[in-house]
Amino acid sequence: MENIKDFNSYNKEYRKSIKSPEQFWQEKASHFLWRKKWDNVLSWDFNKPEVKWFEGGQLNITENCLDRHLEKRGNQTAIKWIANNPEEQNRCLSYSELYDEVCRFSNVLKSNGAKKGDRICLYMPMVPELAIAVLACARIGAIHSVVFAGFSAQSLSDRINDANCTILITADGAFRGDKITPLKDISDEAMDTSPTIQKCIVLKRTNSDINIKSGRDVWWNEEIEKVHKNCTAEVMDSEDPLFILYTSGSTGKPKGIVHSTAGYMIYTEFSFKNVFQYNEGDIYWCTADIGWITGHSYIVYGPLLAGATTIMFEGVPTYPDAGRFWKIVEENKVNIFYTAPTAIRSLEANGMEFVTPYDLSSLKVLGTVGEPINEDAWHWYDKEIGKGNCPIVDTWWQTETGGIMISNLSGVTPSKPSFATFPLPGIQACLVDENGIELEGNSVEGRLCVKFPWPSMARTIYGDHNRFRETYFSVFKNKYFTGDGCLRDENGMYRITGRVDDVLIVSGHNLGTAEIESAMDEHKNVCEAAIVAFPHPIKGNGVYAYVICHNSPDNKEELRKEINDLVSKIVGPIGKADKIQFVSSLPKTRSGKIMRRILRKIASGDTEDLGDTSTLLDPFVIEEIKCGAL
Ligand code: WT7
Repeated sequence: MENIKDFNSYNKEYRKSIKSPEQFWQEKASHFLWRKKWDNVLSWDFNKPEVKWFEGGQLNITENCLDRHLEKRGNQTAIKWIANNPEEQNRCLSYSELYDEVCRFSNVLKSNGAKKGDRICLYMPMVPELAIAVLACARIGAIHSVVFAGFSAQSLSDRINDANCTILITADGAFRGDKITPLKDISDEAMDTSPTIQKCIVLKRTNSDINIKSGRDVWWNEEIEKVHKNCTAEVMDSEDPLFILYTSGSTGKPKGIVHSTAGYMIYTEFSFKNVFQYNEGDIYWCTADIGWITGHSYIVYGPLLAGATTIMFEGVPTYPDAGRFWKIVEENKVNIFYTAPTAIRSLEANGMEFVTPYDLSSLKVLGTVGEPINEDAWHWYDKEIGKGNCPIVDTWWQTETGGIMISNLSGVTPSKPSFATFPLPGIQACLVDENGIELEGNSVEGRLCVKFPWPSMARTIYGDHNRFRETYFSVFKNKYFTGDGCLRDENGMYRITGRVDDVLIVSGHNLGTAEIESAMDEHKNVCEAAIVAFPHPIKGNGVYAYVICHNSPDNKEELRKEINDLVSKIVGPIGKADKIQFVSSLPKTRSGKIMRRILRKIASGDTEDLGDTSTLLDPFVIEEIKCGAL
């Protein structure tokens, strides 16, 4: 399948994808390995909602990531792994080595009782074994649920319980900068309240002292010795679920987003190749963690489906110093580099002395994802990293969309700072007003929706199809609602303006206000908390908390620390508040809904024009809040 090569062909392809979507996607599917060809390309009903792509087809995604490539590129590096510690040896796994490892570990899963359809939880550092475990689950038809290794024991336990996972795969610990996260200790605490876990497979990584509960816990390296090396892939239906990935919602309970097999496969490969204009032999590096959707789609599946060499980095951007990313780019001659605005801003803030020493001339394409990129950061990225020679792809998408939805195609379609620009072929993006009326034409602003199915869209929320419908398909009739505000400029280019619901994006991580609020509520002196985002120079958004106490605190600093320790424990350190303001009440509507719009304004320092406050139960509370603003 050739990449789209110029703006004209993009326009042609786009029109074709709208006029005959089935024919369009059928063509993108035919080069894959199918055990049985599909009967029907698409059937759908957004009211249910129900979407089926390539029904009747049978396949295994790992045969397409691995087996399919063995003949042509068995010796090519599939995964190049770079350790947290720059002194530690890198590891390269060729396609045939990766294939062997995946088959072996598939057998380990089976010998530990895993069957097709089981849910398996992965709570691991960024090491090749994480990718191997993901692929091994897919190979035997088990549904993987990767939980980011920065989450707390309680968050991990909640996610295991929501999906009734039977196996937990973890490690003794994870290196992150100069710290070690005790993954097994955290897992032990989680498993205390997760009775469905029957086996815990532990990878040795940090050599930390850990507890092994006999009968339940087994060592990865010992298990691998006990199994034979061949494993035939399970035959899956196109619509069989491939994985669950949790994302925050507007209630405290995270949503287990479910993706299915064939559509996800076709869309991640197609978008990977076209957005980044991947060419045979390119070295590709996405700095995300596999614990997020970006890592699923654009470290593991997309690149491997395309037969690329994908770099996997265990560490953090600032260890041992803020030049680490650029050192890795130089040493590995990275051609395509994909990261988050928050990383770009923090590296910019560290100064050019961490950039100039490195030779970045191998770079051809730069990408960003996770939140709106401000123009300053865009220009810095363009000038100082791309040296004015690398197109920047600003890729808008979500956990729920499975793959990149709106983005320029590198060097092929035009870019514009802080604009995601045009939808990919097959993506029928639209803007609607508050009443759901579609805004036609250009120079309009509204809520971003999608009005036609695409192959990699989420199929449901695990165990709660009703919530899936309510959240995404009932806000606006017959449309998928993204939760984002957006404008379309005079040329039809899209610019995402940010969330319009109760989710905040901090350092590119999606956090639910309710999750943090309920964690704060656990403190005995907290009566109620309201969380909003405020503009933060590095993180994009910071967390601002308004907290009502039962008893006015003697020592505010101490209480702030206690509250944040609690958030750190329950939600994880990324949820900690940057600012905590103690207030005596919160601005609420008569129906009891907190008016976050007002709190957001005050948090961002804009207290002049608070807009319409007439629906407030008690308009006087905002005076007090304004006076005490931090
Ligand atoms: C939300 C989805 C998709 C992988 C990472 C986040 C925001 C994402 C952009 C972008 C402006 C963006 C949106 C979206 N977002 N990419 N290029 N420009 N905003 O996945 O955790 O599911 O969050 O991230 O608000 O809805 P996620």
